[in-house]
Amino acid sequence: MNKVDSQYKIIFNMSLQDIISKTIKDNDKPIGFDVFMNLALYHAVFGYYRSIKTIFGRHGDFITAPETSDLFGYTLAKQCKQVLNNGDILEFGAGSGVLAAQILFELGRLDSLPGKYYIIELSAQLKDRQIRTIKKVLPEIFNRVEWLTELPKNFKGVVIANEVLDAIPAKRVTFSKGRFVELGVDFQDGSFHWKKFNEPYLNHVASLPDEIDEGYTTEINVQSIAWVKSLYDLILEGTVLLIDYGMDRSEYFHPQRNDGTLKCFFNHKSSDDPFCNIGSQDITTSVNFSDIAESAMDAGFKISGYCTQAMFLISLGIENYLLAEENNEARIKLAQEVKQLVLPGAMGEVFKVLALSKKQTVKLDGFKEQDLTNKL
Ligand SMILES: C[S@@+](CC[C@H](N)C(=O)[O-])C[C@H]1O[C@@H](n2cnc3c(N)ncnc32)[C@H](O)[C@@H]1O
Repeated sequence: MNKVDSQYKIIFNMSLQDIISKTIKDNDKPIGFDVFMNLALYHAVFGYYRSIKTIFGRHGDFITAPETSDLFGYTLAKQCKQVLNNGDILEFGAGSGVLAAQILFELGRLDSLPGKYYIIELSAQLKDRQIRTIKKVLPEIFNRVEWLTELPKNFKGVVIANEVLDAIPAKRVTFSKGRFVELGVDFQDGSFHWKKFNEPYLNHVASLPDEIDEGYTTEINVQSIAWVKSLYDLILEGTVLLIDYGMDRSEYFHPQRNDGTLKCFFNHKSSDDPFCNIGSQDITTSVNFSDIAESAMDAGFKISGYCTQAMFLISLGIENYLLAEENNEARIKLAQEVKQLVLPGAMGEVFKVLALSKKQTVKLDGFKEQDLTNKL
């Protein structure tokens, strides 16, 4: 238990482990992994994303693309400019607020500021951090930024979610006797365990392989599928940019990926054990972009492009920022950051960009060099 947790334990006389095990006991059967992940990440007091500890950046548990380089947000801003049409921007899960600051800074420089930059953030602690970040960097346009608890009605513009889908609680499933069943979480003898439970209803929610080895375990993200559907009705006109680590269905359910994509991050170390450091470590699963794209199309969205993060940034000309930098030392530093964003062994290929559109026919600049939509 870390220092903050133990202080809470003294105040509330309960830890997150106590709360989750009590939830299982009250449920009288194991809980779904999505319920466990939801409590571990978003419990109002103890959840990982409610913590006051530094989560993002070099001193935190992981580094996201905007934390890696300002050039990520500047390049994304160029894609926003192409389809903004005097509309607004809405960012989901804005983390430390640094992506919002980068995008607003660059759109200001390009004389294309959105009417409003909305943020929807589940964590009150992160919202405070976002306010501090944006106010410090861009005090003169801070009044354009507004925090919302739900999508504004009749939204027109660009919706952005960078590394949000991977943080949405997923279900875990395992192949058992010719069908997939849910792999839930049980609590026995003082610790959490995986436990098969429930009826095989999951095949109706998302496509899972029909035949695969006994014990093959993977994830499906029922909440993300519903989330993307719900976006459609609330957007009047616009483009949705989803950036995350993930892959298409055939890669996701590759027979060799027989223990799914679940990963936990604590102090820049990754593990596959969600039952340790509960509330102090991040828990994520990769995105099945085929599920997201199908759900989006069912709702009415058009797919405007799907490609690797590297090709998206290159298509939008990320290298021009390097060429424009006259100071040698600064250029070398930027080149290192760009490598991190685009090299295949770093973030370049595991991260993908999926663009959805509603009443929008423009061919997006970000997919000029590569469009893998047919792989979805
Ligand atoms: C891995 S962090 C990414 C933060 C940031 N986008 C970045 O790239 O640095 C995930 C973020 O998503 C937020 N989040 C998760 N589910 C969400 C939802 N349904 N609506 C809004 N924010 C959500 C979390 O609170 C957190 O800020």
